[in-house]
Amino acid sequence: MVPWFYASLLQLWIVLASATAANTQQPLHAVKPFRIDLSAGVPHMYDLLRRSHLPAKEGYPGIGSTAGIDLSVLKSLKKEWLDDFDWQHEEKELNRFHHFTTSIENITLHFIHERSSDPHAIPILLNHGWPGSFTEFIPVINDLTKVSETSNGKPISFHVVVPSLPGFTFSSPPPANWTLEDTARIQHTLMTKILGYETFATHGTDYGSGPSYTLYKNYSDTVRAAHFSFVPFLPYLPEQLAAANITLNTTLEKDEQANALVWRTAGNAYFSVQATKPNTIGLALHDNPLGQLAWMGEKFISWSDPRQGTPPSVLTHTDILRSVSLFYLTKSFVSSVYTYYQNPTTFSPTYPDPGTLPTDLGPMLFSAFKYNVGYWPPQLLEKIGNLVYYKNHDFGGHFAGVDNPPALIEDLREIGTYWNGTAL
Ligand SMILES: *[C@@H]1O[C@H](CO)[C@@H](O)[C@H](O)[C@H]1NC(C)=O
Ligand SMILES: *[C@@H]1O[C@H](CO)[C@@H](O)[C@H](O)[C@H]1NC(C)=O
Ligand SMILES: *[C@@H]1O[C@H](CO)[C@@H](O)[C@H](O)[C@H]1NC(C)=O
Ligand SMILES: *[C@@H]1O[C@H](CO)[C@@H](O)[C@H](O)[C@H]1NC(C)=O
Ligand SMILES: *[C@@H]1O[C@H](CO)[C@@H](O)[C@H](O)[C@H]1NC(C)=O
Ligand SMILES: *[C@@H]1O[C@H](CO)[C@@H](O)[C@H](O)[C@H]1NC(C)=O
Repeated sequence: MVPWFYASLLQLWIVLASATAANTQQPLHAVKPFRIDLSAGVPHMYDLLRRSHLPAKEGYPGIGSTAGIDLSVLKSLKKEWLDDFDWQHEEKELNRFHHFTTSIENITLHFIHERSSDPHAIPILLNHGWPGSFTEFIPVINDLTKVSETSNGKPISFHVVVPSLPGFTFSSPPPANWTLEDTARIQHTLMTKILGYETFATHGTDYGSGPSYTLYKNYSDTVRAAHFSFVPFLPYLPEQLAAANITLNTTLEKDEQANALVWRTAGNAYFSVQATKPNTIGLALHDNPLGQLAWMGEKFISWSDPRQGTPPSVLTHTDILRSVSLFYLTKSFVSSVYTYYQNPTTFSPTYPDPGTLPTDLGPMLFSAFKYNVGYWPPQLLEKIGNLVYYKNHDFGGHFAGVDNPPALIEDLREIGTYWNGTAL
């Protein structure tokens, strides 16, 4: 990582440069170094946790996780939160990264910015989803900044920018009429006008694939490559695939489709609640750490590889508790679920008509993970972009950055194989 002092100098330069560019006395976009300090809320969180009681035993024994989070799993997570988890330690680890905030269009935007030492590195913006946060990418950031090689032997490294979506953790809640297209616009401002990158790449997953796709499609002059593990289009159901003559050939492809189908048929009630009544679930859980653990912990567990927490996955219980603590302590649970209310149709059932995409789109890369909650064969992705790379992984799920970080890193590095932008 760049030593703190130099990073601050760099940021100061950026502030001055943007002020000069705008020819105003007041810097248009001041970038402020930011450190996480949520310790003030920790005693209350623990007080509530200690005083919340779970049933002594399962009311319907043997039901396991088919009806939602498993009671014994929730109990053990709660016990670990109380007995083993150390927020101060987590905060210290997260503060090893360079965090910043800036204000764009009245949104306070929090982001991590780690630069490669290589001046030819490709700038990349990584977009998380729900119930993830910027922490989804913690295990991949440092490796991406290091100089490595693509599969065809080209040197590759990245300047990594990981913003928090508006309404998540340290980014301020946006107005009620804010959409993920608006998010893409301010992220474009962040990368170009504030951080000074002429071209950049993006990666998106879950709801974060919305702004990443808009960046890719609407800003194709600057966003010269996109990688996705999830896209903002509804996957085809088996009968739609059959009607389109798309045949799955391998066991892995068939497993990916079957796993994704579980979300579609029995796993999306939370989506309807958050898209239609975000206040009910939001306010119910706002000051309820155990409730947030059940609501979000279930997603981390059921959307990930059953081998989660064993290598290469670093999605441990500690990781889940860190995420939930972050939502609780930043009081951002309500605004995070509002993202669904604000963007109920982000995952479109309609794919673009052939020939209607912009002709100058950059290369698009895709990684499919076995236990993800959406499955798109290459034939569907070809409808939405300039697909140049597609890979199936038999380990990992929805949160690839923590459930299979080496695979995500390797696939992101393939951006270098197809990169035609001018790296700074
Ligand atoms: C900007 O945000 C501040 C504080 O949240 C608010 O008072 C102000 O009305 C907002 N301005 C606009 C133009 O939305
Ligand atoms: C969205 O809401 C904000 C204030 O909350 C307002 O300033 C803005 O004009 C609205 N935008 C649209 C497109 O309605
Ligand atoms: C992106 O392009 C679509 C039309 O294809 C347009 O409706 C939308 O407003 C654009 N969004 C941004 C953020 O530029
Ligand atoms: C699928 O294949 C059948 C038989 O070859 C053909 O009649 C039909 O038009 C194809 N459908 C599509 C959507 O390509
Ligand atoms: C399955 O194999 C056929 C024949 O080689 C190919 O056309 C098709 O694209 C393959 N399906 C997928 C999902 O890759
Ligand atoms: C990148 O440029 C090279 C030639 O300069 C071209 O052959 C290649 O197709 C381009 N790649 C993409 C993905 O646009």
